Amino acid sequence: MTKKIYNIVFKVLVCTIVMISCSPKSSYHFKSFFFDGVPDPINENSIIANINSIDSTGFKKRDSILEQAKSKEIYHPPFQEKKCKTCHQKYKRSESMANNKALCYTCHDQFEYTYQTLHGPVDFGHCTQCHNPHKSKYEGLLTQNDNQLCLECHDQSYLLQTSIHNRLDETQQCLNCHNPHGANTRFLLTQNSCFGCHDNYNSKFNNVHGPVAAGLCVNCHEDHNSKQPHLLTNTTNALCLNCHNAQDLNKTSTHKETNTKSCTTCHNPHGGSNHYLLNKTALQ
Ligand code: HEC
Ligand code: HEC
Ligand code: HEC
Ligand code: HEC
Ligand code: HEC
Ligand code: HEC
Ligand code: HEC
Ligand code: HEC
Ligand code: HEC
Repeated sequence: MTKKIYNIVFKVLVCTIVMISCSPKSSYHFKSFFFDGVPDPINENSIIANINSIDSTGFKKRDSILEQAKSKEIYHPPFQEKKCKTCHQKYKRSESMANNKALCYTCHDQFEYTYQTLHGPVDFGHCTQCHNPHKSKYEGLLTQNDNQLCLECHDQSYLLQTSIHNRLDETQQCLNCHNPHGANTRFLLTQNSCFGCHDNYNSKFNNVHGPVAAGLCVNCHEDHNSKQPHLLTNTTNALCLNCHNAQDLNKTSTHKETNTKSCTTCHNPHGGSNHYLLNKTALQ
């Protein structure tokens, strides 16, 4: 009887030794995929190596190095909390996870509800083109730092040919002017992207024209390579009558002449000191 037990214990021991002795790196990938929270041996080892080298200097320093090592990487909460299965139960292979928008949206707000237009890779559902789903050394779990992230897909030499970008120096961040996920304008522009170079109408005028206040500059303006006067997207009056009703306007005596006159002879398209955005000509 006791012999039988010894036999089993021996077999279990042998099996365990065989399992442990396979290369830690290859078994990590295997184990980590199936068991929650197997630590990454590469990082663990380097942390331990660091700790051993300074062990004689005492615990205080060791603790601070451990803290540093930890703070170098930012962890995605569900990964840190080892909720691997929340993301991996349906999708066993990373290949089928290439389009992972639906997965991300189970916990994050859908950009479709926030923005009228989506950035290409967001529209295609490729969140992990820019984000690491587990951890990253860059803020926002990004796969690349700063402008490098954008220049992975956008050709720098092409951008430098456009009259906006060739004025920029290296200190300028793409994200100063562009939203990475989407926007309510063309070109994914952020609200104040134009005011780095042009007057800020929000502080210049008491009354800011609706679409200007909403940051919809590119509703009326083309890009800086356009040959249109004032870079306008259309003739002035056609622009205005896109949003304002011509028939309603024609009812008022002041607007009888608008067929022959440009709206901007009387109105400032951006704002004014009065409610009707009237300029000096109109007020005379
Ligand atoms: C927030 C969702 C999420 C969580 C939580 C998560 N993963 Fe992943 N994981 C992904 C996605 C998405 C991919 C595919 C990435 C890509 O596009 O290449 C992936 C890929 C992988 C891969 C294959 C690619 C690689 O990085 O080598 C492994 C292995 C993996 N995950 C293990 C884990 C383990 C282990 C855990 C838990 C500690 C975990 N994942 C938690 C979303 C997640
Ligand atoms: C199980 C829920 C869950 C899923 C699924 C999930 N996340 Fe998260 N994510 C969180 C939580 C919780 C936070 C931390 C709170 C926050 O910032 O909203 C977070 C934060 C983030 C952040 C901000 C990190 C930072 O440091 O600012 C990014 C980026 C992110 N997630 C991207 C993704 C992407 C991409 C996917 C899909 C691959 C995804 N998440 C799927 C729960 C989830
Ligand atoms: C083109 C690159 C890119 C793609 C694709 C992308 N993101 Fe982001 N994301 C960013 C950048 C850059 C930030 C940091 C924004 C900042 O610092 O202002 C960010 C920030 C975030 C944050 C942090 C909170 C926030 O809104 O700023 C979440 C959550 C997030 N992204 C989720 C997603 C999800 C979900 C997808 C896919 C539907 C996705 N991202 C696709 C570049 C991208
Ligand atoms: C994974 C590849 C990828 C990355 C990374 C990427 N983009 Fe894009 N971007 C695209 C695609 C695809 C389009 C759509 C092109 C088209 O519609 O012609 C696009 C379009 C744009 C546009 C033009 C939108 C318009 O309305 O004309 C801007 C601006 C832009 N991206 C800025 C950025 C910025 C800023 C970053 C970094 C945060 C970035 N991109 C990162 C792939 C990428
Ligand atoms: C100071 C603001 C600003 C910065 C910084 C900036 N952009 Fe732009 N970008 C613009 C404006 C404004 C437009 C609209 C086109 C125009 O007016 O010429 C634009 C347009 C674009 C377009 C569309 C170009 C086209 O002709 O279709 C892409 C792509 C783009 N930007 C990518 C980037 C990337 C990548 C970076 C960072 C390396 C960047 N931008 C930095 C303001 C900026
Ligand atoms: C409702 C349409 C409309 C919107 C929205 C709009 N503009 Fe204009 N903008 C015009 C028109 C029309 C002109 C030409 C004025 C003229 O004929 O004298 C103009 C002229 C300009 C000029 C050159 C003349 C000047 O006034 O300095 C600049 C610069 C300009 N706009 C920048 C902007 C910026 C920046 C925004 C967003 C904050 C914006 N515009 C929003 C219609 C618009
Ligand atoms: C990097 C600086 C920079 C940014 C950002 C910028 N502009 Fe310009 N803009 C200029 C310069 C310089 C000119 C002079 C004409 C030229 O060289 O293209 C100009 C010219 C213009 C004109 C024509 C003025 C005229 O009287 O003909 C308009 C309209 C205009 N910009 C609107 C905008 C709008 C709208 C935005 C935001 C989407 C914007 N600009 C962002 C630098 C900038
Ligand atoms: C993208 C739509 C849009 C375009 C294009 C547009 N407007 Fe407006 N306009 C508005 C909105 C929105 C308001 C604000 C209405 C409110 O506050 O009740 C407004 C208000 C005004 C007002 C003030 C009257 C009031 O009742 O507050 C005048 C005047 C005006 N616009 C003239 C113009 C002229 C001139 C143009 C062409 C240069 C123009 N608009 C182009 C949307 C537009
Ligand atoms: C001859 C000068 C003149 C011209 C040209 C002109 N307006 Fe006006 N507009 C005014 C004056 C003055 C008012 C103030 C209210 C009034 O007297 O009817 C006004 C008021 C408005 C209002 C507010 C009306 C209301 O009842 O709330 C809008 C919107 C407007 N104009 C749009 C336009 C558009 C669009 C054009 C071009 C198609 C245009 N205007 C051309 C002088 C002008």
